[in-house]
Amino acid sequence: METANNNLTMEFTITAGDFSTAGKAASEVKRILGQIGFPPAIIRRVAVATYEAEMNIVIHSFGGKITLFITPRKINILCEDNGPGIADIDLAMQEGFSTAPDKIRELGFGAGMGLPNIKRCSDEFKIYSEVGKGTKLEISIKLVE
Ligand SMILES: Nc1ncnc2c1ncn2[C@@H]1O[C@H](COP(=O)(O)OP(=O)(O)OP(=O)(O)O)[C@@H](O)[C@H]1O
Ligand SMILES: [Mg+2]
Repeated sequence: METANNNLTMEFTITAGDFSTAGKAASEVKRILGQIGFPPAIIRRVAVATYEAEMNIVIHSFGGKITLFITPRKINILCEDNGPGIADIDLAMQEGFSTAPDKIRELGFGAGMGLPNIKRCSDEFKIYSEVGKGTKLEISIKLVE
Protein backbone atom coordinates (compact mmCIF):
# COMPACT_ATOMS: atom_id res chain seq x y z
CA MET A 1 0.00 0.00 0.00
CA GLU A 2 1.39 3.40 -1.02
CA THR A 3 0.09 6.86 -0.37
CA ALA A 4 0.99 10.19 -1.96
CA ASN A 5 -0.91 13.46 -2.52
CA ASN A 6 -4.23 12.06 -1.27
CA ASN A 7 -3.82 9.09 -3.61
CA LEU A 8 -3.57 5.50 -2.48
CA THR A 9 -2.35 2.49 -4.43
CA MET A 10 -2.86 -1.13 -3.41
CA GLU A 11 -1.49 -4.09 -5.33
CA PHE A 12 -2.37 -7.76 -4.90
CA THR A 13 -0.83 -10.82 -6.52
CA ILE A 14 -3.49 -13.43 -7.30
CA THR A 15 -2.48 -17.08 -7.46
CA ALA A 16 -4.29 -19.35 -9.91
CA GLY A 17 -6.18 -22.31 -8.48
CA ASP A 18 -5.55 -21.47 -4.82
CA PHE A 19 -8.91 -21.52 -3.04
CA SER A 20 -7.30 -21.14 0.39
CA THR A 21 -6.30 -17.55 -0.41
CA ALA A 22 -9.04 -16.75 -2.97
CA GLY A 23 -11.08 -13.72 -1.98
CA LYS A 24 -8.40 -12.31 0.34
CA ALA A 25 -7.64 -9.31 -1.89
CA ALA A 26 -11.31 -8.31 -2.01
CA SER A 27 -11.73 -8.61 1.76
CA GLU A 28 -8.56 -6.62 2.38
CA VAL A 29 -9.79 -3.88 0.04
CA LYS A 30 -13.17 -3.85 1.80
CA ARG A 31 -11.48 -3.57 5.20
CA ILE A 32 -9.16 -0.71 4.18
CA LEU A 33 -11.91 1.29 2.43
CA GLY A 34 -14.05 0.85 5.54
CA GLN A 35 -11.25 2.16 7.75
CA ILE A 36 -10.81 5.18 5.47
CA GLY A 37 -14.54 5.81 5.80
CA PHE A 38 -15.88 5.49 2.26
CA PRO A 39 -19.68 5.31 1.90
CA PRO A 40 -20.99 1.72 2.25
CA ALA A 41 -22.53 1.77 -1.25
CA ILE A 42 -19.14 2.61 -2.79
CA ILE A 43 -17.38 -0.02 -0.69
CA ARG A 44 -19.91 -2.64 -1.77
CA ARG A 45 -19.40 -1.91 -5.49
CA VAL A 46 -15.60 -1.91 -5.19
CA ALA A 47 -15.64 -5.11 -3.10
CA VAL A 48 -17.98 -6.97 -5.48
CA ALA A 49 -16.02 -5.93 -8.58
CA THR A 50 -12.69 -6.83 -6.95
CA TYR A 51 -14.05 -10.16 -5.67
CA GLU A 52 -15.47 -11.24 -9.04
CA ALA A 53 -12.29 -10.23 -10.86
CA GLU A 54 -10.16 -11.97 -8.24
CA MET A 55 -12.17 -15.21 -8.49
CA ASN A 56 -11.96 -15.12 -12.29
CA ILE A 57 -8.17 -14.86 -12.07
CA VAL A 58 -8.09 -17.73 -9.55
CA ILE A 59 -10.47 -19.95 -11.53
CA HIS A 60 -9.91 -19.12 -15.20
CA SER A 61 -6.40 -17.71 -15.52
CA PHE A 62 -2.81 -18.76 -14.90
CA GLY A 63 -2.44 -16.07 -12.23
CA GLY A 64 -2.23 -12.30 -12.22
CA LYS A 65 -2.52 -9.15 -10.22
CA ILE A 66 -5.07 -6.57 -9.16
CA THR A 67 -4.08 -2.97 -8.56
CA LEU A 68 -6.36 -0.34 -7.05
CA PHE A 69 -5.70 3.35 -7.57
CA ILE A 70 -7.72 5.52 -5.24
CA THR A 71 -7.91 9.27 -5.81
CA PRO A 72 -10.31 11.82 -4.34
CA ARG A 73 -12.41 11.57 -7.53
CA LYS A 74 -12.49 7.86 -8.34
CA ILE A 75 -11.35 4.34 -7.64
CA ASN A 76 -9.73 2.52 -10.54
CA ILE A 77 -9.29 -1.24 -10.40
CA LEU A 78 -6.87 -2.76 -12.88
CA CYS A 79 -6.90 -6.54 -13.22
CA GLU A 80 -4.29 -8.25 -15.37
CA ASP A 81 -3.62 -11.94 -15.81
CA ASN A 82 -1.39 -14.28 -17.73
CA GLY A 83 -3.60 -16.27 -20.05
CA PRO A 84 -5.31 -18.25 -21.42
CA GLY A 85 -7.36 -15.23 -22.51
CA ILE A 86 -10.99 -15.11 -23.67
CA ALA A 87 -11.82 -16.08 -27.26
CA ASP A 88 -15.24 -14.41 -27.46
CA ILE A 89 -15.62 -11.44 -25.13
CA ASP A 90 -19.26 -10.70 -26.11
CA LEU A 91 -20.18 -14.26 -25.17
CA ALA A 92 -18.20 -14.13 -21.91
CA MET A 93 -20.05 -10.92 -20.96
CA GLN A 94 -23.47 -12.60 -21.31
CA GLU A 95 -25.29 -13.47 -18.09
CA GLY A 96 -25.21 -17.22 -17.55
CA PHE A 97 -22.28 -17.98 -19.86
CA SER A 98 -19.59 -20.00 -18.12
CA THR A 99 -16.89 -22.44 -19.07
CA ALA A 100 -16.37 -23.48 -15.43
CA PRO A 101 -16.00 -27.26 -15.13
CA ASP A 102 -18.12 -29.39 -12.76
CA LYS A 103 -15.55 -29.41 -9.96
CA ILE A 104 -15.64 -25.58 -9.89
CA ARG A 105 -19.46 -25.53 -10.02
CA GLU A 106 -19.52 -27.87 -7.02
CA LEU A 107 -17.70 -25.13 -5.10
CA GLY A 108 -20.53 -22.73 -5.95
CA PHE A 109 -18.89 -20.82 -8.81
CA GLY A 110 -19.71 -20.89 -12.50
CA ALA A 111 -23.10 -19.17 -12.66
CA GLY A 112 -21.70 -16.96 -15.39
CA MET A 113 -22.58 -13.82 -13.44
CA GLY A 114 -19.14 -12.47 -12.51
CA LEU A 115 -18.33 -10.28 -15.51
CA PRO A 116 -21.90 -8.88 -15.86
CA ASN A 117 -21.80 -8.11 -12.14
CA ILE A 118 -18.47 -6.27 -12.47
CA LYS A 119 -19.93 -4.21 -15.30
CA ARG A 120 -23.00 -3.37 -13.19
CA CYS A 121 -20.80 -2.20 -10.31
CA SER A 122 -18.67 0.01 -12.59
CA ASP A 123 -19.15 3.52 -13.90
CA GLU A 124 -16.63 2.65 -16.60
CA PHE A 125 -15.69 -0.86 -17.60
CA LYS A 126 -13.27 -2.06 -20.27
CA ILE A 127 -12.17 -5.59 -21.01
CA TYR A 128 -9.30 -6.57 -23.28
CA SER A 129 -8.25 -10.13 -23.91
CA GLU A 130 -5.93 -11.99 -26.19
CA VAL A 131 -5.99 -15.76 -26.47
CA GLY A 132 -2.68 -17.22 -25.30
CA LYS A 133 -1.70 -13.96 -23.64
CA GLY A 134 -4.18 -12.88 -21.00
CA THR A 135 -7.02 -10.69 -19.94
CA LYS A 136 -7.14 -7.14 -18.66
CA LEU A 137 -10.04 -5.38 -16.95
CA GLU A 138 -10.18 -1.63 -16.36
CA ILE A 139 -12.85 -0.78 -13.84
CA SER A 140 -13.62 2.71 -12.65
CA ILE A 141 -15.98 3.78 -9.89
CA LYS A 142 -16.68 7.47 -9.42
CA LEU A 143 -16.49 9.09 -6.01
CA VAL A 144 -17.82 12.46 -7.15
CA GLU A 145 -20.10 13.56 -10.00
N1 LIG B 1 -9.60 -13.86 -16.37
C1 LIG B 1 -10.15 -14.73 -17.21
N2 LIG B 1 -9.35 -15.52 -18.01
C2 LIG B 1 -9.91 -16.38 -18.88
N3 LIG B 1 -11.24 -16.55 -19.05
C3 LIG B 1 -12.07 -15.80 -18.29
C4 LIG B 1 -11.57 -14.87 -17.34
N4 LIG B 1 -12.62 -14.26 -16.75
C5 LIG B 1 -13.71 -14.79 -17.30
N5 LIG B 1 -13.39 -15.73 -18.24
C6 LIG B 1 -14.32 -16.49 -19.08
O1 LIG B 1 -15.57 -15.81 -19.12
C7 LIG B 1 -16.61 -16.66 -18.60
C8 LIG B 1 -17.64 -15.81 -17.86
O2 LIG B 1 -17.04 -15.22 -16.69
P1 LIG B 1 -17.98 -14.85 -15.46
O3 LIG B 1 -17.14 -14.33 -14.37
O4 LIG B 1 -19.11 -14.00 -15.95
O5 LIG B 1 -18.62 -16.27 -15.06
P2 LIG B 1 -17.95 -17.50 -14.30
O6 LIG B 1 -16.65 -17.10 -13.69
O7 LIG B 1 -17.91 -18.65 -15.22
O8 LIG B 1 -19.04 -17.78 -13.16
P3 LIG B 1 -19.29 -16.89 -11.84
O9 LIG B 1 -18.46 -15.65 -11.96
O10 LIG B 1 -20.74 -16.60 -11.82
O11 LIG B 1 -18.84 -17.78 -10.70
C9 LIG B 1 -15.88 -17.67 -17.75
O12 LIG B 1 -16.62 -18.88 -17.58
C10 LIG B 1 -14.61 -17.89 -18.55
O13 LIG B 1 -14.85 -18.73 -19.67
MG1 LIG C 1 -16.52 -15.36 -12.56
